[in-house]
Amino acid sequence: MASTTLYRRARLATLAENDGGLGLVADGAVLVRDGRIAFAGPARDLPAEAAAAAEPVDCAGRLVTPGLIDCHTHLVHGGERSNEFEMRLEGVAYEDIARAGGGILSSVKATRAATDEELLRSALTRLDRLIAEGVTTVEVKSGYGLDLATEARMLRAARHLGKVRNVGIRTSFLGAHALPPEARGDKDAYSRLVADAMLPALASEGLVDAVDGFCEGIAFSPGQIARVFDAARGLGLPVKLHADQLSDLGGAALAAGYGALSADHLEHCSDAGAAALARAGTVAVMLPGACYFLRETHRPPVEAFRRHGTRMAVATDYNPGTSPMTSLLMAANMAATLFRLTVAECLAGITREAARALGLLHETGTLEAGKWADLAVWDVERPAELVCRMGSAPLHRRIRHGIPA
Ligand code: NIG
Ligand code: FE
Repeated sequence: MASTTLYRRARLATLAENDGGLGLVADGAVLVRDGRIAFAGPARDLPAEAAAAAEPVDCAGRLVTPGLIDCHTHLVHGGERSNEFEMRLEGVAYEDIARAGGGILSSVKATRAATDEELLRSALTRLDRLIAEGVTTVEVKSGYGLDLATEARMLRAARHLGKVRNVGIRTSFLGAHALPPEARGDKDAYSRLVADAMLPALASEGLVDAVDGFCEGIAFSPGQIARVFDAARGLGLPVKLHADQLSDLGGAALAAGYGALSADHLEHCSDAGAAALARAGTVAVMLPGACYFLRETHRPPVEAFRRHGTRMAVATDYNPGTSPMTSLLMAANMAATLFRLTVAECLAGITREAARALGLLHETGTLEAGKWADLAVWDVERPAELVCRMGSAPLHRRIRHGIPA
């Protein structure tokens, strides 16, 4: 039997492109049928017969937004790295820790040593924090395995998260994250292994929704990333890139050249890089948590993004080394305070643009008829409170695919 629910007496922020800005509707309603939005808009436009047949839920004037989307996380990993945090407090640089075998590689060691059960349990704790803030879709990367068996275990753990919680999970294979010790310094050979052996094997198991890479001096060159992206293209998989985070290697232009879903970080992105992203329709994902935590002084070129019409999303970049933050609203707050995004840009960045960055805009990210009913209901007076408050999640209720909780 078809189940129909009517969320009534709601203040909506639809975030729909055509509604402009936040798409605010003072007296709004959302009609949910079979898990999808059948109607979202002013209550007066809702057909009376549709309303009469639905089970009503009174939102009592609360704000209803699309469910939040965290489009960049490294949620699955073993261990933790507060020791490196302490080293950096004493003045040691992130790159120096990485070159000395710490950084990503210390998480690789801990992840390889962790059992499947441990990987799942620790990731669930972090996922639950995101869920408690109204997040309904999360992207999860591999990249702390760097061998086929452990990358597969990470991606299976990520997939499993979506089976034990009411949340959408998108996986990204990040084999080209760092060079594992057994590669003995040969980045070319390792990037060939990622492209020619690991990726096809993981893709054939259905574990890969997108392919990611880290283009950086301490990671892989544009040529090595291109090799991995060519393999992704051959398999029909979309790509995304950790680009221009610590230096400008032309990562944004590289990602744009492959029609990437997103280019992420971008603290050192050039004006030409910003323009290339706009032309390609590649979303620029702001990760202010990492910028803050590394005390990076460069900022992503937000003005250039606006000028060129580059889309901007915002994500936590949750990871144990450079952004141990499981709050997407805190990421939005930092995007505003550190990067000067407006409230509307921040809220679009954790809903509509994050959906676009995952290739899911046709399914979620806005309150529009036909999409999945992924909603968050908030105890706030004004939408700006969601971005302004620090360390509190004024969530009243969360609904994914029409199902509460
Ligand atoms: O997104 N930039 C590269 N990768 C991760 C962090 C990796 C780590 O230090 O564990 C990031 O910031
Ligand atoms: Fe990252």
